[in-house]
Amino acid sequence: MDRSWLLVLPSGFIVCFFVFASVAQAAVVEHTFNVGNLSISQLCKPAMIITAVNGQLPGPTIEASEGDTVVVHLVNESPYNMTIHWHGIFQRGTPWADGPAMVTQCPVTPGATYTYRFNVTGQEGTLWWHAHISFHRATVYGALVIRPRGDDDAYPFPKPNREETLLLGEWWNASVYDLERMAFITGNTAPPADAYTINGKPGDLYNCSNANQTYGFQVQSNETYLLRIINAALNTPMFFKVASHNFTVVGADAAYTTPYETDVVVIAPGQTVDALMVAGAAVGRYYMAASPYDSAIPNGPPFSRTTATAILEYVGSATDAPPQLPPRPEYNDTNTAFRFFSNLTALVLPGKPTVPLSVDTRMFVTVGLGNTDCQPEQLLCNTTGTRAPIFAASMNNASFLLPDAVSMLQAHYANASAGVYTRDFPDQPPVIFDYTADASDTAVLKYTTKSTKVKTLRYNETVEMVLQNTRLIAKESHPMHLHGFNFFVLAQGFGNYDEATATPRFNLVNPQERNTIAVPTGGWAVIRFVADNPGTQILSRLHFG
Ligand SMILES: *[C@@H]1O[C@H](CO)[C@@H](O)[C@H](O)[C@H]1NC(C)=O
Ligand SMILES: *[C@@H]1O[C@H](CO)[C@@H](O)[C@H](O)[C@H]1NC(C)=O
Ligand SMILES: *[C@@H]1O[C@H](CO)[C@@H](O)[C@H](O)[C@H]1NC(C)=O
Ligand SMILES: *[C@@H]1O[C@H](CO)[C@@H](O)[C@H](O)[C@H]1NC(C)=O
Ligand SMILES: *[C@@H]1O[C@H](CO)[C@@H](O)[C@H](O)[C@H]1NC(C)=O
Ligand SMILES: *[C@@H]1O[C@H](CO)[C@@H](O)[C@H](O)[C@H]1NC(C)=O
Ligand SMILES: *[C@@H]1O[C@H](CO)[C@@H](O)[C@H](O)[C@H]1NC(C)=O
Ligand SMILES: *[C@@H]1O[C@H](CO)[C@@H](O)[C@H](O)[C@H]1NC(C)=O
Ligand SMILES: *[C@@H]1O[C@H](CO)[C@@H](O)[C@H](O)[C@H]1NC(C)=O
Ligand SMILES: *[C@@H]1O[C@H](CO)[C@@H](O)[C@H](O)[C@H]1NC(C)=O
Ligand SMILES: *[C@@H]1O[C@H](CO)[C@@H](O)[C@H](O)[C@H]1NC(C)=O
Ligand SMILES: *[C@@H]1O[C@H](CO)[C@@H](O)[C@H](O)[C@H]1NC(C)=O
Repeated sequence: MDRSWLLVLPSGFIVCFFVFASVAQAAVVEHTFNVGNLSISQLCKPAMIITAVNGQLPGPTIEASEGDTVVVHLVNESPYNMTIHWHGIFQRGTPWADGPAMVTQCPVTPGATYTYRFNVTGQEGTLWWHAHISFHRATVYGALVIRPRGDDDAYPFPKPNREETLLLGEWWNASVYDLERMAFITGNTAPPADAYTINGKPGDLYNCSNANQTYGFQVQSNETYLLRIINAALNTPMFFKVASHNFTVVGADAAYTTPYETDVVVIAPGQTVDALMVAGAAVGRYYMAASPYDSAIPNGPPFSRTTATAILEYVGSATDAPPQLPPRPEYNDTNTAFRFFSNLTALVLPGKPTVPLSVDTRMFVTVGLGNTDCQPEQLLCNTTGTRAPIFAASMNNASFLLPDAVSMLQAHYANASAGVYTRDFPDQPPVIFDYTADASDTAVLKYTTKSTKVKTLRYNETVEMVLQNTRLIAKESHPMHLHGFNFFVLAQGFGNYDEATATPRFNLVNPQERNTIAVPTGGWAVIRFVADNPGTQILSRLHFG
């Protein structure tokens, strides 16, 4: 057992060797995912999606019950390398099925087939799956719903009459692969999305978008709907509202929450929210609206200030009745975002893990942007001047570089990590400075270099990590996703983390459990997790370009 390790990398992770004995009989949920072409007309522009699963956008929903085995045969009929990540699935004992290219597996090459096989044990709620290579997740994504084993009555809330899955996304007219290649080669940021989408469709507020490009569903007066909301966008946190309807949040990231009443759901890329909604308004038609929360101050990348809509239609309503549009928060409404994110708490249930009270390892990790040099492969990079203004994601001043010859997990198993990664990801930033002051713009840590560093953890140790946003290029609410674990969110706030004032605010009773946290813009969050899932796990910021 003391041979087992966990490694946490800069833009990603952890390492493994431990296989758990597991659950008894349960169903096998089997799918074949053919990745290939889908021709579509979006924003009046005919387009060919080169990487769509089974000719669908979003791809198929995987429906499983707790304890089931999921088997997905990935058939890559596209001209690109492909992998799929099962976002939020722990992958205990199957770390090679997690999906990140060159971290836990080599990519599935064009024409090849690969089978993912994993168990969904000890998890219930809404998760999702997406490509984990290049930025193919813009079109390769879908929902993964895990119901309680046996019966829906096993929900820890009144059984809803119906369920509805809503995947929020971003749409680009051009090929996202080409945009990403161009951004890489030039060192520029990728352009903002042309539209936001709900279940693949932008909705009729966009010019040249019509009823055929608007998602909708019917409701019956007074029935209760469980909305499974997933933010599958590459970059943009979203405000989600339904005109004249409120929500009771009952889950987030496949962890049950104390019921939380709200008129707006705030959801960062990678996150999910399960919310009950009663169809209690007058018979009629109502817009559901997904609008951006852009937190980047002051020089954030450009983003689209548009709204995706879908339509909620009561049975008995005139089909041409003009839908009511909900008022939407301003794009920079950090108060509303913070109120939602910070008010969720876990529903403490017997037998479920609770927050560990003692800590073995403490890490302080700065997250934000830095500048770096053009790499030789960046052929159109502007190298005029002493240092090219290339943006790079940075954690403790390290910017993660994927290995190119062998995956990290494979190198780890083969005991051949030399030349693939180093075990020196630091527990603190190399320099302590005023992380969030405007003057930090000139701080020494603005410049970062590319490396493949990991943090090694002992099996079963408890890790507490402060995630501190920096203002080096721009403050921004960064969604940070940890693979292989749910973590507990003890506290979050703005400015520089101050242990003396933060510790008394720690929620050690019922902190929310997440796999993805939106670290407050220009602020910090404290998370805890038990390193009991050996493997090479990524901790990463989700972003495009
Ligand atoms: C997919 O679409 C591309 C671009 O239009 C085309 O070149 C390719 O032949 C198509 N592939 C298949 C299998 O139809
Ligand atoms: C994408 O299409 C929409 C609708 O036609 C248009 O408004 C927008 O300018 C297009 N964007 C690009 C980059 O072509
Ligand atoms: C997954 O579940 C199956 C069937 O219950 C079981 O045989 C198998 O050992 C489990 N695998 C892991 C890695 O837990
Ligand atoms: C695709 O993956 C294969 C196998 O891992 C690798 O050799 C190749 O370089 C990759 N191709 C691209 C374009 O990245
Ligand atoms: C629709 O077109 C008008 C006029 O060109 C423009 O002002 C507006 O921003 C466009 N709306 C969207 C959502 O693209
Ligand atoms: C919507 O799609 C249907 C079926 O493809 C088509 O007949 C109809 O003309 C479309 N409506 C609009 C407004 O484009
Ligand atoms: C919905 O509930 C309200 C209040 O209880 C009631 O007045 C109304 O008749 C109900 N509507 C339907 C369609 O059952
Ligand atoms: C929704 O909640 C707000 C308070 O947050 C309240 O003012 C409003 O009346 C509620 N709307 C409905 C439809 O329940
Ligand atoms: C949001 O942006 C608007 C301008 O678009 C500005 O007037 C307002 O003060 C900003 N609000 C916050 C909270 O920064
Ligand atoms: C939520 O959080 C805010 C702080 O942002 C706090 O003022 C408020 O009382 C909390 N509770 C509810 C129910 O919103
Ligand atoms: C390259 O950068 C220099 C200095 O910032 C600038 O003057 C020049 O216009 C840039 N060239 C290109 C092709 O972007
Ligand atoms: C893991 O740690 C917990 C709490 O410290 C302890 O009770 C348990 O025995 C440990 N498990 C293993 C397998 O080491």
